[in-house]
Amino acid sequence: MSTDAPASFRHQPHPTPVAAAERAERLIDPGFGQVFTDHMAMVDFTDEAGWHDARIVARAPLTMDPASSVLHYAQEIFEGLKAYRLADGGTALFRPQANATRFRNSARRMAMAELPEELFVGSIEALVRADAAWIPESEGGALYLRPFMIASEVFLGVKPSARYTYMAIASSVGAYWKGGARAISIWVSREHTRAAPGGTGAAKCGGNYAASLLAQSEAIRQGCDQVVFLDAAERRWVEELGGMNVFFVFADGTLRTPPLTGTILPGITRDSLLTIARAQGLRVEEVPYSIDQWRSDAESGVLTEAFACGTAAVVTAIGRVADGDAGFAIGSGGIGQITRALHDSLVSIQRGTAPDRQGWLHRID
Ligand code: PLP
Ligand code: COI
Repeated sequence: MSTDAPASFRHQPHPTPVAAAERAERLIDPGFGQVFTDHMAMVDFTDEAGWHDARIVARAPLTMDPASSVLHYAQEIFEGLKAYRLADGGTALFRPQANATRFRNSARRMAMAELPEELFVGSIEALVRADAAWIPESEGGALYLRPFMIASEVFLGVKPSARYTYMAIASSVGAYWKGGARAISIWVSREHTRAAPGGTGAAKCGGNYAASLLAQSEAIRQGCDQVVFLDAAERRWVEELGGMNVFFVFADGTLRTPPLTGTILPGITRDSLLTIARAQGLRVEEVPYSIDQWRSDAESGVLTEAFACGTAAVVTAIGRVADGDAGFAIGSGGIGQITRALHDSLVSIQRGTAPDRQGWLHRID
């Protein structure tokens, strides 16, 4: 079979889906990544047959051979995007094509088979249609989609796998942070880095997150919400958080974010905010920013706000930076005016209450 996308996903409905009353109960306060829907999407790849057997099936545990190569050499990539209930009652995905492209780029970096983009978007459309009842109606709620791909060849030699399994699961979510909209604190990782030049930092592969978890645990131990990484070469330039990109806002209204040099994830929220800010006439720059400059600008008042952004976290103000025994506050330590305005502009496009000038909404119904 060729790598052409199959026209549609075979749908094998769940024989015993969660009852409506039980589902309603689970959707009251879903948190993040704990409530899962009834179905999942799957597509198989082999070197001989290409991509085949695209299907929506009941969500169920996987049976894997213990020699499956993902379990040994970590050929694994994933994505994260959301389906939203719109103000007019419809349902839409936000920029799924951009996730499909990034997924292909991640696959290429990890020497994995590249899933055709129409198959990626088709899997998400089919899964959201099957599980539309799981989209929370509450403010800030969404259906978080988690497409991922694993190397499934049963072989212990170190080489790119000849078989892959692509899947997508869905989780009903509320706010990513416990306690709702608030400014977060971040901890500067001086000892550990996340990604080196020439490494896999720009790919959304599980290994990057494994590499970040020790530093993230240290951040939590230090009483912070998230870790922020510095570049691996000079240990000087602010790169990104464990699971979010970072922006800086200056008193003169300029917005700055680190450039895409291959060591940070090219966030779709980051790109959307750059576009929105430019359209609103803000000055934006993709320029490196050092941790020392950040501290001195925050202390002098040259920098007034900073925020983290990503699909899960949306736009989240950073109120405090902890760095060893020292630390510094950002602005008043709360949610700044430009951060709030950018958050609201993005969310109103995603929810269909502001004009979608870029054609970012991908309606499902
Ligand atoms: N950086 C990292 C390391 C992430 O895990 C994420 C989340 O996916 C982001 C940045 C933000 O990316 P996006 O806006 O596409 O969700
Ligand atoms: C996302 O925002 O989709 C991520 O992958 C980040 C993670 C913190 C959930």
